[in-house]
Amino acid sequence: MTTYESIKVKPMTPTIGAVITGIDLTQPLSNQQVEELHTAFAEHLVIFFRDQKVDHESHKRFGRYFGDLYFHSASTGIPDHPEIIRLHADGNSDHVAGDMWHSDLSCDPNPPLGSVLYLHTLPPLGGDTLFASMYAAYDALSDSMKAYVESLAATHDANPIYAYKGENRRYNVSIHPLVKTHPVTKKKLLYFNEQYVSKINGVPERESNAIFRFLSDHCADAMFHTRFTWEPHSIAFWDNRCAQHYAIWDYYPHERSGFRVTIANNLHTA
Ligand code: SIN
Repeated sequence: MTTYESIKVKPMTPTIGAVITGIDLTQPLSNQQVEELHTAFAEHLVIFFRDQKVDHESHKRFGRYFGDLYFHSASTGIPDHPEIIRLHADGNSDHVAGDMWHSDLSCDPNPPLGSVLYLHTLPPLGGDTLFASMYAAYDALSDSMKAYVESLAATHDANPIYAYKGENRRYNVSIHPLVKTHPVTKKKLLYFNEQYVSKINGVPERESNAIFRFLSDHCADAMFHTRFTWEPHSIAFWDNRCAQHYAIWDYYPHERSGFRVTIANNLHTA
């Protein structure tokens, strides 16, 4: 168990998720706090904060402690802050972002390191987000299945996801191996998510469909998960390289609203 001096870290499960306290994200952080947050992030995959009334500048400053900010390849940022996207749902919404297991923008050639989601408005009940450890999902496979999926790659296609926008454009499509090694922890992980993956490459269609169904079912195992119940001014910061998430839309017609900063995968320090 790691000892922390400048922050408090309370794990939520043995596998994934920790709540961080004793820190104020509206203010610049000390080097020790940043270093310990990097450690907690690597250890717990998704870290949560409560009562952090961040404005756009402090939200972006927090993101920059972990890498360069990333411009969303499919959604436009808010005025004056193109690196920040707004997430909003209410009684007029006919869809919400991320209500299916996914890893953000796995359609991109170098998908983002992570995302920092700040929500200021929550429904009276519901609107939780589920997170799953893809280390745990990989570790739970048999040795034969590990070897099999390790030999394969998958196509991640954003076009079906963003078709609802009705924009006359093509979104990103990329091919990634089904098993990756995390650049910081050096642990192997299953790089699969049912929202972006459109097919498993290099195998007949029926086999691709069968592997897809197997991996979807496998990743849905509650043993790999944690669940976060939001409050106004909570923040979730997830490692998009080794965790996937699912935003539950069970609160219609109520409002759930906030902002997300996405971080590029270009700094590999622990
Ligand atoms: C997302 O960024 O995928 C949405 C997560 C959420 O709304 O909880």
